[in-house]
Amino acid sequence: MQSKPNRALGAIIMSTNTIDNTRKVTTRRLIEMKQRGEKISMLTAYDFSSAKILDEAGIDVLLVGDSASNVMAGNMTTLPITLDQMIYHAKSVIKGTKRALVVCDMPFGTYQGNPMEALASAIRIMKESHAEAVKMEGGAEIRESIERILSAGIPVMGHLGLTPQSINKFGTYNVRAKEEEEANKLIEDAKLLDEIGCFGIVIEKVPAELAARVAKEVSIPIIGIGAGGGVDGQVLVMHDMLGINQGFSPRFLRRYANLADVMTDAVQNYIADVKSGDFPSEKESY
Ligand code: KIV
Repeated sequence: MQSKPNRALGAIIMSTNTIDNTRKVTTRRLIEMKQRGEKISMLTAYDFSSAKILDEAGIDVLLVGDSASNVMAGNMTTLPITLDQMIYHAKSVIKGTKRALVVCDMPFGTYQGNPMEALASAIRIMKESHAEAVKMEGGAEIRESIERILSAGIPVMGHLGLTPQSINKFGTYNVRAKEEEEANKLIEDAKLLDEIGCFGIVIEKVPAELAARVAKEVSIPIIGIGAGGGVDGQVLVMHDMLGINQGFSPRFLRRYANLADVMTDAVQNYIADVKSGDFPSEKESY
């Protein structure tokens, strides 16, 4: 069963089915990708150099996630990161990105209060960082804030399921929406975000069957993290999937590299070369 068409979608006329990997990714293009069944790849980035590597590798979406609070700043939760810090990260990512769509998380405490505060925060992100969209955690309870931001022409991505900014309410990072009541609320929230004009939704750590059902019932892309393969795309935290952050091994995480080991090895070789006097050589000197 399909829900009502999304307002952001408008009338998209697909002239071709061919995939152009050099064309700039836009919110509209993500919706087209869902329509033709092309999976969307998304990773976090917080700095210029990583963003450049990920963008040149062909990633579709770069998320300047508030997970920067954990993996960049060393905090236990995403709650402490500020709007100024998110803008700093997003600005750096934008400078390294040509093709990917850059989405910036709205940090905790900058949109939950009231719609005008939410709008002011989103405008600061767009104006000062040049990010192309914002992401917000929550459904019906933040509807008015999302609508206010959308009305200013700022694309919004939702985030449902495990919403780390509410960790103090949940008490754990366990799988969400296993019970019928929470699963039904998630479905209703996803339909609401679709209807009011969000361009996509991240769904975090919920049963695969539920996430797949949501992906079928809404017209906008569902990007999963720990939400199984039946959704429209996947997102991971770059530091986790590259094995830079080794202290986090949930079942949903696939590690594609072990950069902590590569870096440790390189740094130990450097230390040994400095201590032995092998570095710098004559060739490396002026
Ligand atoms: O902040 C973040 O990195 C996120 C992802 C986990 C989706 O929101």
